[in-house]
Amino acid sequence: MKIAFFDTHNFEKSVFQKENKVHNHEITFFETRLTEHTANLAVGYPCICAFVNDRLDHITLKIIAASGTKLIALRSAGFNHVDLEAANELGLRIVRVPEYSPYAVAEYAIALILSLNRKIHRAYSRVREGNFSLDGLVGFDLNNKTVGIVGTGKIGSIMAKILNGFGCHVLAFDSLKNPALVAAGVQYVSFDELLQKSDIISLHVPLIPETRHLIDARALSKMKSGVMLINTGRGALIDTQALIQSLKSEHVGYAGLDVYEEEEGIFFENLSDQILQDDQLARLLTFPNVLLTSHQAFLTEEALSNIAHTTLGNIAEFEKGKILSNEVCAEKNLKK
Ligand code: NAI
Repeated sequence: MKIAFFDTHNFEKSVFQKENKVHNHEITFFETRLTEHTANLAVGYPCICAFVNDRLDHITLKIIAASGTKLIALRSAGFNHVDLEAANELGLRIVRVPEYSPYAVAEYAIALILSLNRKIHRAYSRVREGNFSLDGLVGFDLNNKTVGIVGTGKIGSIMAKILNGFGCHVLAFDSLKNPALVAAGVQYVSFDELLQKSDIISLHVPLIPETRHLIDARALSKMKSGVMLINTGRGALIDTQALIQSLKSEHVGYAGLDVYEEEEGIFFENLSDQILQDDQLARLLTFPNVLLTSHQAFLTEEALSNIAHTTLGNIAEFEKGKILSNEVCAEKNLKK
């Protein structure tokens, strides 16, 4: 099948080329992101392959549907960037990669916790400048600390298991309880109780209307003073302005952020020669107790290989007229 691959990055191109030897799809790799301004590149491609910062809004979908596109293959688990209602109306079918390596993301969230706590990011820069002082680098034992996990699906469950290994007390909030976690000693509590009791809070729910700004000024005010907040979910789970205020007032003690509300057009790009125009992001980068990375929690060899395998397999199913095992169904998700 002819595929227009948008927002191509070097880290994934060769992985897809290797996996495509099995399928022989005709792939054109575009480096540009898919937006209403680049959508005309899709003319003649029945399939679009999109990543997390491609803009699949109503206007873009309308242009690609009119150009003959029938399938959008997301090479991500999240689909919050797709206007599902519009896709449904336009007859566009959407497939995704529901699971590629929950370990990659959970392990990365742990890496953020450990780095922030033990100030590895600061120590690394210091010793390279010849500063071997330890002042300001005091951390805390993870053993016996209370960690709150918001969302105990695939990624959150693995987080819980890893944290159990560190000797942490694990609290969880989710609309569905996972009995295996309860058996492992994880305690499900209300959202507010989790906020009030946790020393560290890690977010693993999808971004849907109900979870947008789940962490707002109210939620932040309920948290313990000095709390560590970790977000490898989606940027808009947190109200960034409210977080900045809490960091300034020193109520939030640490923030580990792999995602950011306004990351589209910034994350994944090398902007080192440019003046950063996003004032909120610039402010976040001034805090010594904020560790911010560019949406890289998924980035392991295993995850990339699984993403390529599932994405090209999803497309092959569509081409052969089979049932789409990883279809995102508009009605089902809109009711969530
Ligand atoms: P999952 O679907 O397995 O788990 C999500 C959990 O959230 C489920 O247990 C569900 O019951 C719960 N949930 C959903 N809405 C809720 C609500 N309103 N209140 C309480 N609980 C709710 O998803 P998975 O695979 O664990 O991924 C979680 C999120 O992580 C994804 O949606 C995605 O946004 C993000 N992600 C980030 C990556 C990165 O590189 N930074 C990579 C992969 C995923």
